[in-house]
Amino acid sequence: SANESPAGRQPTATYDSAFLKACRREPVPHTPVWFMRQAGRSLPEYRKVREGVAMLDSCMRPDLVTEITLQPVRRHGVDAAIYFSDIVVPLKAIGIDLDIKPGVGPVVEQPVRTRADLARLRDLTPEDVAYVTEAIGMLTDELGATPLIGFAGAPFTLASYLVEGGPSRTYENAKAMMYGDPQLWADLLDRLADITAAFLKVQIEAGASAVQLFDSWAGALAPVDYRRSVLPASAKVFDAVADYGVPRIHFGVGTGELLGLLGEAGADVVGVDWRVPLDEAARRVGPGKALQGNLDPTVLFAGTEAVETKAREVLESAAGLEGHVFNLGHGVMPSTDPDALTRLVEYVHTQTAR
Ligand code: CP3
Repeated sequence: SANESPAGRQPTATYDSAFLKACRREPVPHTPVWFMRQAGRSLPEYRKVREGVAMLDSCMRPDLVTEITLQPVRRHGVDAAIYFSDIVVPLKAIGIDLDIKPGVGPVVEQPVRTRADLARLRDLTPEDVAYVTEAIGMLTDELGATPLIGFAGAPFTLASYLVEGGPSRTYENAKAMMYGDPQLWADLLDRLADITAAFLKVQIEAGASAVQLFDSWAGALAPVDYRRSVLPASAKVFDAVADYGVPRIHFGVGTGELLGLLGEAGADVVGVDWRVPLDEAARRVGPGKALQGNLDPTVLFAGTEAVETKAREVLESAAGLEGHVFNLGHGVMPSTDPDALTRLVEYVHTQTAR
């Protein structure tokens, strides 16, 4: 089984890294730092290797995935790598006709709106994503003691793209299905839970040391609807990977009213955006879970002094937590100065060195 030793299938040095210790709520030598979207357009070396290669094509090339995943680790000295991919990759892998349009996001050719459409969502097998297994094998060799975070989109956020057919501000078609045809909605989210669980298993089996479930748009839901119509599917995903013993992180934006439920769904670490301070977030989440966050990503445009003031605020509100992973409250914005990110990593490390 995956749990034959405390370290499972990863090297002891990785198991003992500051990032994984913080996720397990153990004492750490310094507060670990990584950034959502740390790989990507903020880095000139990323723009260079992506020249002439479409986003989804780059996700299927182990050489590019390995290089792009390593870039922010080399440049910033972050405490964890995140596997370079996108939340729609497993849907593409089972044959859904979709693309990522630059400056727009995922666009689905034929939206999923009816029961007949569900049949297009077949199970995902490891063979569908053989490039993921290959890339993670290459990555874990290169990363040494730096842990690799695997990830997937949560059923609700995936459903929002599939049902709307693309990005949306209101999620009117997805919510119309949720409120108007709850059985079809439940069946859709259950299908997506199985696909997502299979995709995370591939990443863990290949060597990922932690996984993050991105339910980026769950903040659009009232707690009562989240609990009834979304939580069961996300809980199914977390349950499916529980036996591996790797930390499970659960993240969404605008989820202040949902923080307790994000934990309840089965996370070991709850991601918090900048709208709720971490001490208050800890009260909402309750004991037994670490927190990740939560610097406003736009602070990085305000100059070094402001970045340090706001980062210190985050660290102070995290002072009483059992486990804290420093991150932004959402992804790095493409026009961010990469040097500001490097300085921030250094600042958090020196401020928290024990
Ligand atoms: O470094 C990392 O964090 C890993 C890479 C990563 C990407 N997408 C690469 C990417 C991760 C973790 C994601 C997850 C993702 N994708 C989410 C959840 C995270 C979040 O931000 O809330 C969501 C909602 C998506 C869907 C998606 N894909 C959007 C909204 C976009 C942006 C469209 C645009 O061009 O502005 C994408 C495309 C995408 N995914 C890019 C990258 C680097 C940009 C495309 C490019 O570089 O050509």
